Amino acid sequence: MIIAVDGPVAAGKGTLARRIAERYGLKYLDTGALYRAVGLLVLRRAQDPADEANAIAAALDVDQIDLTDPELRDERTGNAASTVASIQGVRDALLDYQRNVANSRPGAVLDGRDIGTVVCPDAPVKLFVTASAEVRAMRRFEELKAKGVATTFEEVYADLQARDERDSNRASAPLVAAKDAHLLDTTKLDIEAALEKAYEIIDAR
Ligand code: DC
Repeated sequence: MIIAVDGPVAAGKGTLARRIAERYGLKYLDTGALYRAVGLLVLRRAQDPADEANAIAAALDVDQIDLTDPELRDERTGNAASTVASIQGVRDALLDYQRNVANSRPGAVLDGRDIGTVVCPDAPVKLFVTASAEVRAMRRFEELKAKGVATTFEEVYADLQARDERDSNRASAPLVAAKDAHLLDTTKLDIEAALEKAYEIIDAR
């Protein structure tokens, strides 16, 4: 069983995907962490994330980074991730890793931007998790505040819009809902209500 969970930044897909994996006893892969690992490796090598050859070399070495490293969550790493993610060679280099997890027993929940469209186009369940930009920015702002990061709602909102723009308009695997994806709008749903909807969709399969 493969469950693909895609959507824009801060829509709640990570939390949803992790909880779905727990409930159904499946593996969980946060594919954004892979792009972040490539970004981090490039930064640690003091290279430019926009340099294609170096970024592709880093993608081939992605297993050198521990996917639980807290530095993966830094703003600087997120920006480098977003840059390397637009390079087709980087995306190609990460494809096998993602498909190996997806196809291993007993199955997996993968979250990202292109799981239902590119990585696992035959996944039997695809969820596209979204929410209004205001609500996503507010959630991210609250998260950052709780972590003690000094920022403003306006800053977070502007950054989120820039990320949406980059993720949706890049030439390689842009963020788009697969035609057969179930749309899950979490603007007015808390996590438990969103999970109930997701379980209904999965159980129906
Ligand atoms: O979900 P995230 O913020 O951790 O993702 C980091 C970056 O990686 C983000 O700019 C989008 C990109 N990404 C991608 O292009 N494809 C994926 N399957 C997952 C993430």
